[in-house]
Amino acid sequence: MRIQTGVDGFDDLVQGGLLAERVYLVSGPPGCGKTTFCVQYLAQGAAFGEVGLYVSLLESPQNIINDMSNYSMNVMTLVKMQKLLFADLGPRMEYGFMDEFNEYVTPEYEVGRSAADNEAPSPATVFKEIAAYVAEYDVKRLVIDSVSAIRFTSKDSSLQEKEMSRFIRNLKKLGCTTILISEMTEPTAYSTEQFAAHGVIFMHNFLYDKTMTRAIQIIKMRGTKHDCNLRNIEFTDKGLTIKDLLD
Ligand SMILES: Nc1ncnc2c1ncn2[C@@H]1O[C@H](COP(=O)(O)OP(=O)(O)OP(=O)(O)O)[C@@H](O)[C@H]1O
Ligand SMILES: [Mg+2]
Repeated sequence: MRIQTGVDGFDDLVQGGLLAERVYLVSGPPGCGKTTFCVQYLAQGAAFGEVGLYVSLLESPQNIINDMSNYSMNVMTLVKMQKLLFADLGPRMEYGFMDEFNEYVTPEYEVGRSAADNEAPSPATVFKEIAAYVAEYDVKRLVIDSVSAIRFTSKDSSLQEKEMSRFIRNLKKLGCTTILISEMTEPTAYSTEQFAAHGVIFMHNFLYDKTMTRAIQIIKMRGTKHDCNLRNIEFTDKGLTIKDLLD
């Protein structure tokens, strides 16, 4: 079964959508639109009754909700309906401060959180917390922002690959269609998560003919005949929209 991403122009590039219950990677430099792409994806499902969960390891959910409320995806309504959930697995807030959005943010699970608050969580901790949300809220679409903020401990690259594959294999068993966000440092250096994911999407932000250009590119999509080209992207009032080929 293919599921629609809700990103205008994207599904046509991948035979109608993402294959369900698989794990995808969206990778790109700061500010290229990773969060926007993923919230659109969750909002699309949520609008049709599929619960979506955005797991944030760095940014506060309140900020993401605020920023995404600038677009017409009805984020706040979907959050209030508990069809769109935000979980904060980032560093603990220091001052016990709560603001008006906290009532919309799902309660925290404290499953085996043993690492110090200022230390990045391990893949096992993150997985257990996510699995608890998925079971309780019957989550169908999942986003993890970002895999770069999880503490994969091995220094040895083959062990690192095993640790990452294990994390991804566990995610595959949750029964959700998952997008992992990763920060892109060097587009030509392939990372372990790119090999382990079923599909990889790169987003770019670069100087082209003296203008800053935004583009998207599908690097791999297992089981799918897909477009491989760099395509322009634009932010509209709906969020991201895929435009023509970069010429
Ligand atoms: N209303 C808007 N209209 C047009 N572009 C906007 C608007 N709001 C935000 N943007 C663009 O969206 C970018 C942020 O998008 P987004 O948060 O999805 O990126 P990101 O890749 O998740 O960033 P980060 O790496 O910081 O998490 C901003 O840097 C800005 O260029
Ligand atoms: Mg982001």
